[in-house]
Amino acid sequence: MVCCNTDIQEEAREIVQAIGSAPEYAIPLLQEMQRRRSYLPKDLVEAVSGETGIPVSTLFGVATFYSQFRFKPQGKYLIRVCHGTACHVTGADVISAVIAQELGIAEGDTTQDMLFSFEKVACLGCCALAPVVMIGGKIYAKLSGPKIKSVIKEYLMKESHHGKA
Ligand code: FES
Repeated sequence: MVCCNTDIQEEAREIVQAIGSAPEYAIPLLQEMQRRRSYLPKDLVEAVSGETGIPVSTLFGVATFYSQFRFKPQGKYLIRVCHGTACHVTGADVISAVIAQELGIAEGDTTQDMLFSFEKVACLGCCALAPVVMIGGKIYAKLSGPKIKSVIKEYLMKESHHGKA
């Protein structure tokens, strides 16, 4: 757990040593930061900028260009709702609306307890199973409003049991 600026400097140094400091390494540097933290914390990007000499504006400019990068912390479970064509015509909007309602968050947000992040994505590659949602790498297929509601309830129950353990 990073607790202070010294640790961030140290982490930035490790990242730059592992990846490289030339401007053409901007994307691998960002990927490594995100791999470690699950998003791009501003202070870490600034520290990597200090180590490499690549301007902060360049790093964030590159990061905003690619949808793979996140700028906010991600919850324990990332819920990715497919809004590709097949899922769209079979009810992706309903699925997203139920998730937003059940978790009380909008697309792109994370619940306050840091359990769930929710995002809409393009085709997940299993259109025959539409509408599809991926949660923490697991696919949930042929969903409906009630089905996704019970899936979320299962996760919430699992987590509340963990909390009591
Ligand atoms: S459109 Fe949703 S999996 Fe392809």
